[in-house]
Amino acid sequence: MKVLICETAEKAVARAAELVIAQVRKKPDAVLGLATGGTMLPLYRKLCEACRQGAVSFAQSTTFNLDEYVGLAPDHPGSYHSYMREIFFDQTDIDLGRTHLPRGDCADPASECQRYEALIAASGGIDLQLLGIGQNGHIGFNEPTSSLGSRTRIKTLSHSTRLANAGHFGVIDAMPRHALTMGIGTILDARQCILLATGQSKAAAVASMIEGPVSAGCPASALQLHPAMTAVLDAEAASDL
Ligand code: GLP
Repeated sequence: MKVLICETAEKAVARAAELVIAQVRKKPDAVLGLATGGTMLPLYRKLCEACRQGAVSFAQSTTFNLDEYVGLAPDHPGSYHSYMREIFFDQTDIDLGRTHLPRGDCADPASECQRYEALIAASGGIDLQLLGIGQNGHIGFNEPTSSLGSRTRIKTLSHSTRLANAGHFGVIDAMPRHALTMGIGTILDARQCILLATGQSKAAAVASMIEGPVSAGCPASALQLHPAMTAVLDAEAASDL
């Protein structure tokens, strides 16, 4: 695993954005795996800015998001569909027809997960997977105890994850209890992974990911097995290394 430690969160975000832009410039029809969460907001802002300035174009890119909450329709304000439209898709030249997220409001989650895996495979596979990390070491919504070979499926969200994300829903009771998420095996299939982590609250999870044993107790530790994985950290997120 390559570990890049930047002085500030701003520099870490800029570094991660450079890596994404380099991939898309090299291969304009790249298949990008996208992540959500607060950490990604400034990264998407940078990518939108680069697109507006003509430094990169996403017009030929295909995207697959990691996850979506079960039960939420794409137009629900708390859905990751809404997040992606607002923060990234609607502000770039991306072709919405080439953007993909699991459907949280599907009637049959098991077949939706199979459909999603088949779509990823039919695209030729993910060239670059962007990742954040949860305070408990989750990636996507692969909570601790997720099988390291898992594929896209339903996961029950832990109480700590629901607390950390409840802000988007007002109160924790309004927060979904399940999500559809790419599995750890799905993520490890990407040709390149870039994980961005900033802030003190991620320091313990980052240390387990990089220096801990590979274990389902810290799902992100599975990234130690990936041959082209880069962790981009700010000094606070790297402070327990
Ligand atoms: C959610 C997402 C993850 C993300 C994590 C961290 O759980 N499913 O993909 O990495 O949150 O989010 P934040 O960046 O807001 O700390």
